[in-house]
Amino acid sequence: MSNLLLSPEENGNLLVKFCWLFGRYLYETLKYPIGLVHSSWGGTPVEAWSSPRALHKCGLMNSQFLVKSNFWENASTKWNSSVLWNAMIHPLLNMTITGAIWYQGEANANYNRDKYNCSFPVMIDDWRMAFHKGSGGQTALHFPFGFVQLSTYHKSDSQDGFREIRWHQTADYGFAPNKRMKNTFMAVAIDVPDERSPWGSIHPEDKEDVAYRLVLGARAVAYGEKNVSFQGPFPTQAMLKQDFISIVFDQGINAIPDDGFFFEVCCSEDKTCESDNKWLPVPIEKCGFDYVLVSKPKCDADIIGVRYLWTDWPCNFKACPIYSSDGLLPAPPFILSITNQ
Ligand SMILES: *[C@@H]1O[C@H](CO)[C@@H](O)[C@H](O)[C@H]1NC(C)=O
Ligand SMILES: *[C@@H]1O[C@H](CO)[C@@H](O)[C@H](O)[C@H]1NC(C)=O
Ligand SMILES: *[C@@H]1O[C@H](CO)[C@@H](O)[C@H](O)[C@H]1NC(C)=O
Ligand SMILES: *[C@@H]1O[C@H](CO)[C@@H](O)[C@H](O)[C@H]1NC(C)=O
Ligand SMILES: *[C@@H]1O[C@H](CO)[C@@H](O)[C@H](O)[C@H]1NC(C)=O
Repeated sequence: MSNLLLSPEENGNLLVKFCWLFGRYLYETLKYPIGLVHSSWGGTPVEAWSSPRALHKCGLMNSQFLVKSNFWENASTKWNSSVLWNAMIHPLLNMTITGAIWYQGEANANYNRDKYNCSFPVMIDDWRMAFHKGSGGQTALHFPFGFVQLSTYHKSDSQDGFREIRWHQTADYGFAPNKRMKNTFMAVAIDVPDERSPWGSIHPEDKEDVAYRLVLGARAVAYGEKNVSFQGPFPTQAMLKQDFISIVFDQGINAIPDDGFFFEVCCSEDKTCESDNKWLPVPIEKCGFDYVLVSKPKCDADIIGVRYLWTDWPCNFKACPIYSSDGLLPAPPFILSITNQ
């Protein structure tokens, strides 16, 4: 029997459904019973789940913050840093667990957003250390930690910080595991938007696909199954060609040319790309086995970088342009420098 700790966020009922689906898909391959512990509180920021020790490492002070619930319109609650760490994680520390999965992020889209690339990985490290100690060494010091990359919330043109949080969830690598976040795995959820979800658009109802994707990661990373692919295509290089920009991926892709504006290219006189108005949308002109060619924008300055799915709500349901060759796993959002060739 092994235990699995499930944590945060999202509306409780839907998270229980997500947790249960994760357990069911995992059981189908493991074929032995697993225990699932559900500990969550909707609409809460990562600071609530972090110990003061962890917050300190990211220069975050112990503070009170106001979170606006996405689920109940106009509702807002005052929280203190570490309050859910104290109340809902600390009491569990002496259990022996196999790993943890996490579904959170939107409450940091407008709260300490620029520090999430520190606060999230540091919280994972801190939980690992604390569970290891709390169980007298029985919980592995580097236990596997899976998480769901944020899906979508607002369809409007204005940006709500989701694109930055998605990136920061990976410590700015774009994929997991990575050098900073070892023994982690991620399910991409950007392609399952749900404007009409009865739970509100922040809670896409399709938890099956997302739980299934996270289980692929768990099988590969936490249970060491060989041959389970769990990551969508990720770019290795973007090159400036004569009339195109070529973006090469780390695996075969299933992609379609598309004149929707999924790609944007940074055209800049001063080499910086901070401001959104330097990013010009470009269509996908051609797709190959493991690459796409996007148009070169009309640009009198330097072409610096390319980014993909860099909006809060980029695609319709299961209709992002680039998937793994079996069509199951979407390429996650990314931002990348362009090299001249
Ligand atoms: C939320 O606040 C706005 C403005 O104060 C009000 O018009 C609206 O009725 C409120 N919604 C709910 C569900 O209370
Ligand atoms: C937050 O901290 C203050 C001061 O220590 C305390 O009075 C308050 O009850 C706390 N609120 C919550 C929600 O824990
Ligand atoms: C965990 O804590 C509980 C409650 O304090 C205690 O009864 C139990 O013995 C502890 N277990 C371990 C493994 O330390
Ligand atoms: C985190 O992101 C911020 C803002 O984008 C950046 O300034 C900072 O260097 C990043 N920190 C780390 C640890 O990656
Ligand atoms: C892994 O996949 C490769 C290529 O599809 C296949 O040749 C190999 O037999 C598989 N190995 C196992 C252990 O399933």
